[in-house]
Amino acid sequence: MKIALCGYMGCGKSTVSQLIASKKGLNFVETDLKIEKQENLSISEIFTQKGEIYFRKQENLILKNLLDNLDESVLSLGGGTPCYANNLQMLKETQDLKLVYLKLTAANLTNRLWSETHQRPLISHLSSKELLDEYVRKHLFERQYYYLQSDYIIDANDKSAEELSDEIINLFY
Ligand code: S3P
Repeated sequence: MKIALCGYMGCGKSTVSQLIASKKGLNFVETDLKIEKQENLSISEIFTQKGEIYFRKQENLILKNLLDNLDESVLSLGGGTPCYANNLQMLKETQDLKLVYLKLTAANLTNRLWSETHQRPLISHLSSKELLDEYVRKHLFERQYYYLQSDYIIDANDKSAEELSDEIINLFY
């Protein structure tokens, strides 16, 4: 079984994936970490030095490579991964892979992201919480089209990472 977690920045994909992996003895894989390692740069540095288009190309290549060689794993995707190129199609066509969307309201995402905008290249220019909220609302609206094609949609509002990891484990085991 392979589980891939998707959802907007700040929804908890990485923490929840790591918890599922450690509770079930599975490998934890994160596309962003693979890209950072390959480029020897942080995601922010890749965006500034090489641009978003370069990042999206590497994201697509790394995902393809991962899905071709994936064992029993929990895969934490980048927030934009299912929304670019043929990434969603590749995920849907991978045998034995369940795609899970961690769904949070725009208001909850804004609250979580407000203290960490500087680490995230897409939102680092937003100088007030109102601007961030407006950005997240529009962006989430565009991205939900992709996220909602997941096999499972989990309401992640007001739940801890522990609770979410148990909820997802109970779906599959
Ligand atoms: C992005 C989300 C980030 C990272 C990159 C682009 C996005 O991952 O891949 O900054 O397009 O939403 P997280 O969702 O893990 O923050």
